Amino acid sequence: MELVGNYVSLKRTGNVYKGLCPFHSEKTPSFIVTPQRHTFHCFGCGVGGGPIRFLMMIAGRSFPEAVEELAQRYGVSLPEPRSGDRPRVGTRENRPARFEALTRARSFFEEHLWSEAGGPARRYLAGRGLTQRTAREFGLGLSLPGWEHLRQHLTGQGFSDHILAEAGLVKPGRDPGHFYDTFRGRLMIPIIDPEGRVAGFGGRALSDQDQPKYLNSPETAVYKKERLLFGFHRARPFLRGAGMVFVVEGYFDLISMVAGGINEVVAPLGTALTAKQLNLLRGQVDQVMLLFDSDEAGQRAAAKALPLLLNAELDGRVLKLPPGHDPDTFMREFGAEALYEAAGQAMDIIDFQVAFLKKSHPDTPAGQARMAREAQELIARVPDSAKSQLLRRRLARLLGLDETVLGGFHSGGAGRALAPGRAETAKTEAAFDPVAGQLLRFILIHPEAAPPVFGEMAAYWPDDASRPLFNHLRTRYENLGLVDPGAAGEHSPELAALVAEAALAARECRPEESIDLVRQYMNRIRDKWRKSRQAALSAAIQQAQAAGDHDETNRLIKEKMLLD
Ligand code: UTP
Ligand code: MN
Repeated sequence: MELVGNYVSLKRTGNVYKGLCPFHSEKTPSFIVTPQRHTFHCFGCGVGGGPIRFLMMIAGRSFPEAVEELAQRYGVSLPEPRSGDRPRVGTRENRPARFEALTRARSFFEEHLWSEAGGPARRYLAGRGLTQRTAREFGLGLSLPGWEHLRQHLTGQGFSDHILAEAGLVKPGRDPGHFYDTFRGRLMIPIIDPEGRVAGFGGRALSDQDQPKYLNSPETAVYKKERLLFGFHRARPFLRGAGMVFVVEGYFDLISMVAGGINEVVAPLGTALTAKQLNLLRGQVDQVMLLFDSDEAGQRAAAKALPLLLNAELDGRVLKLPPGHDPDTFMREFGAEALYEAAGQAMDIIDFQVAFLKKSHPDTPAGQARMAREAQELIARVPDSAKSQLLRRRLARLLGLDETVLGGFHSGGAGRALAPGRAETAKTEAAFDPVAGQLLRFILIHPEAAPPVFGEMAAYWPDDASRPLFNHLRTRYENLGLVDPGAAGEHSPELAALVAEAALAARECRPEESIDLVRQYMNRIRDKWRKSRQAALSAAIQQAQAAGDHDETNRLIKEKMLLD
């Protein structure tokens, strides 16, 4: 309740709390939190689960991260991780201190921007058409030239160099024990994480002579650029209403759009969009509108984003601005209305890819072959077989190529070559190893029990028939942090049936029991693997003995003993 309350405004009705669902767009509340059971459920879009799942969905956390974070928030102690699992002792404990240091750094930078020393930086902002109001809204600041302004300020308040380094605010100098400010003489742009905390900064040079143009926080435990989106925290409340989100490349692109009244906009931090970033947007919007400066870079970025968007079930569009413009200059010259109008004309991302592929390859046999290969590469990057099959069909049709040229098989399947004569139905449940089938069924219905299965069972998976489904679920979990029965169903009609049946079977089982049960299944699978490995080793030992290879015999015997 308290956890959900941080993200959703809730009203009490009887024993439950109600609010607007943060995972889909709605006007009347259908999102229910039941405090006694620690569960949430939305009757509108069907999402639901416990606190771990909530945190995974709303903050894009992985399962272990969500568990750790909850334990921390509510002061529950977790079993000590095995050594080697975690980089450094003390990392966890330092988390609040690091955020505190970053928050104070923001205030320190902000003060300087509005002080006498901030004159040139304020003129720079004015020159870019930015008002004081917008600058304050984003908490913009200034780091003074010099090596230790921030360091001295914060160590004076009791922060150790160690903590400041972990926050990315200082760096170790050449002399041991010496640290200096990461940001010097730059316009400072705070980067807020999905939970509203200052996670890092982008620092823009104030003149073109200074290089690099932008210096960003180094990767730390609190600043992981692949899972942060600039502007996301402030945009979140607007996303559901808009149903879509603009994705722009630059800090100032975003700032100008917000200044012009466009709130549904985010920016990755100098890298291509990642699955984790899309995970934040998933459930909040249906459509992602990509805005790129140049054709070339735009095409590359769109090619990277396309498989991720398909995977996240987001509708992607590409908006091309007039040559020479980026969203920042476009906004200042033409305004928000013009941008919305252009957005109305944006191309579907697949059509955009097709147009680009056609344009960049001549209509010769060699050119067409290259084009087909690039299309194949695009298709290969979509892990979900049903989705890659759809993409293959669409690309084939739009490019005027035969589907088989793009690696498709007329009879369907996962894009893998099937042995001649082998029936398509080889993947049905009947062919699954019974224990593996049970385990898969189980984790589809009790996703909370799934992570250890993905983590520990990859090496032992007992049969080929169910391995594609296992791998599919595992990849999806690793990329998106979700165990998603719906997506499993898309894998093939047979699996859809399996999932439906499992849903019925598992209803009787309570979550507490599910973890135990999954452990039992896993042990049975491991036992089975061990027995078959032992049998294989016995045979190999006999062979090695017969061949008189003593070293090999000894090695195999040792390996077999380790398994006993
Ligand atoms: P741009 O150079 O397009 O940024 O880089 P911009 O926002 O349009 O820059 P100005 O201020 O208007 O000239 C796009 C993004 O790439 C990252 C930043 O996140 C930037 O906003 N970037 C760029 C860096 O991280 N470092 C750099 O040196 C340049
Ligand atoms: Mn720019």
